[in-house]
Amino acid sequence: MCGIVGYISNHCVKSDLIKGLKKLEYRGYDSVGIALFDVNQNIKVLKNSGQIKDFISKYKNDTSDGHLGIGHTRWATHGVPSDNNSHPIFDQNETIALVHNGIIENYLDIKKELIDEGFKFKTDTDTECISNLISYYKNKNKDTLRSIKLTFQKIKGHAVVAIISKEDPGKIFGFKKGLAGSLRIGLSSNKISIASDLETIKSTSEKYISIDNKEIFVATLEDVLVISKDKKIEKEWISIDEKSETISKNNFDFFIEKEIHEQPEVFLSNFQNRVNFSSKEIDFSKELKGLNLDEIKRINLFGMGTSYYACLLASYWLEQISKIPTQCHNASEFTYRNPLVEENTLAISVSQSGETADTLSAANLIKEMKIPQIAITNTNNSELEKVTKNCINIGAKTEIGVASTKTFTATLEIFLLFAMYLAQKRNPGYPKTKIFQELKSMPSQIERILDNTKHIVDLAKLYSKYDNFLFLGRGYNYPVAMEAALKLKELSYVHAEGYPAGEMKHGPISLIDSKMPVFCIITEGSHRDKMISNIREVKSRNGKVIVLTNCSEKLDKSWYDDIIIFEKTEDLLSPFLSSVSIQIFAVNLALARNLDIDKPRNLAKSVTVE
Ligand code: M6R
Repeated sequence: MCGIVGYISNHCVKSDLIKGLKKLEYRGYDSVGIALFDVNQNIKVLKNSGQIKDFISKYKNDTSDGHLGIGHTRWATHGVPSDNNSHPIFDQNETIALVHNGIIENYLDIKKELIDEGFKFKTDTDTECISNLISYYKNKNKDTLRSIKLTFQKIKGHAVVAIISKEDPGKIFGFKKGLAGSLRIGLSSNKISIASDLETIKSTSEKYISIDNKEIFVATLEDVLVISKDKKIEKEWISIDEKSETISKNNFDFFIEKEIHEQPEVFLSNFQNRVNFSSKEIDFSKELKGLNLDEIKRINLFGMGTSYYACLLASYWLEQISKIPTQCHNASEFTYRNPLVEENTLAISVSQSGETADTLSAANLIKEMKIPQIAITNTNNSELEKVTKNCINIGAKTEIGVASTKTFTATLEIFLLFAMYLAQKRNPGYPKTKIFQELKSMPSQIERILDNTKHIVDLAKLYSKYDNFLFLGRGYNYPVAMEAALKLKELSYVHAEGYPAGEMKHGPISLIDSKMPVFCIITEGSHRDKMISNIREVKSRNGKVIVLTNCSEKLDKSWYDDIIIFEKTEDLLSPFLSSVSIQIFAVNLALARNLDIDKPRNLAKSVTVE
């Protein structure tokens, strides 16, 4: 949610800022802007609503540049996406410009106080109270750093901020307060690079530090001063050994299509160092060094959105395979309900970004309760990992498409392997041989779906004129139905609801008519006959039934309108195949509606505000 970037160099940095913003666009894309210290030592701000491509075209003839600058790609919280509300945001005298990620919860109070002091506000943002507050303090004490410290103390809420000041050439100031995503500062011999993620600074930095909660920094080309509780602190510089990932669409039109097709490869790579197919053993001990799992009596899972649905499915696996009672929590609800967590519970917090504010809040609460905790993420050294200490990386590599696809199936795979790992001690009698056999062939089974998408694409086109969908499933297929509905909503702006099929008769059935296609996921092992009753009930009410199944031979053609068939497998592995089929359906339905499937409206890949 909002991307921040900044550079100090002995060369001009405008092109670096634009490159950085392109990399960070996944964090928000409703407006964009940069502030440069130009050759005349003035702060020049260029900004507009819309995406970076619109910014580039608007400023194609602009020649301003400078050796220091900050930039921002926005996901609006306060104030509509407009040129005026885009960051960087000036103070009233236009001597301080800043970019902000997060929400200032007491901004109305601060705004009122400053208006009473004669300050003028020009935007609808909460951010402007930060720039004007710094300005207010600076009018009194003439010291930029001191004014930033006072501002830091006064604001309530969550903020990651980068600031430049006309009277402080050569410096980028900033701070982090609360949960507002990451901020990394990279160093090389001729450049300071600042960004919301590591990937963005990799190509211009040799080593980096992370700015943590309650830290204020001052970066110059020579040095980075970090202050916490009014004292200078020494941060550990981490060397950047990995090369930055080459990110391209390959031959696909959209990143999300490429990412869907990467799933077999990701699935296979996650076996490495974890799965021994000869001895039929799973090993997470190296990743979870120092965590004693022997005393664990319960597992609690936390996540939001797709990560929550991955947890929901994992709760079935953990109970059935490893025989450990497991509860799944929507992280945002858990945090604020004064939860009770028993001793000997293991908490697992899931977030592909490792930055989701709701999940971080829950993880922090769990930490306060001194409950052992594991993060499952797709990001190294993430904010979540800092809280949980123990982390399993899902190895999906960068996912640009805002709607999760490969990170969903990779998270599921990690959960399944983890359930099997726990079962080695807790439930050695689980059907190991069969599961290992099917697991091995899963990448090829997924690949076969991806090689034969025509039928699903045709169906997606056919159903693209409908505005409402229901997705029903039982057992393992219920979380799949929930995730399917989310995918359709996010990508195609179609109203879609997922339900456990048993719930249908308790209300949703009244929605069924010929304008409401009902997607029913029916697999051999997950209560097939009960699902058959459900589809018959839908059909009897003139509903349109699309069946997604691996047991078509058990279904009479008169019971459904359309069918998508995937290969048979152990029932607990079937969600991988049904989920990939649904991803293809959702993406192609959105394409038939002419939508930008990489950047759905109103969304951001990293949700760093609560
Ligand atoms: O980064 P996280 O996994 O914590 O993100 C959680 C949700 O915001 C995320 O899954 C969201 O629902 C996606 N847009 C799903 O496609």
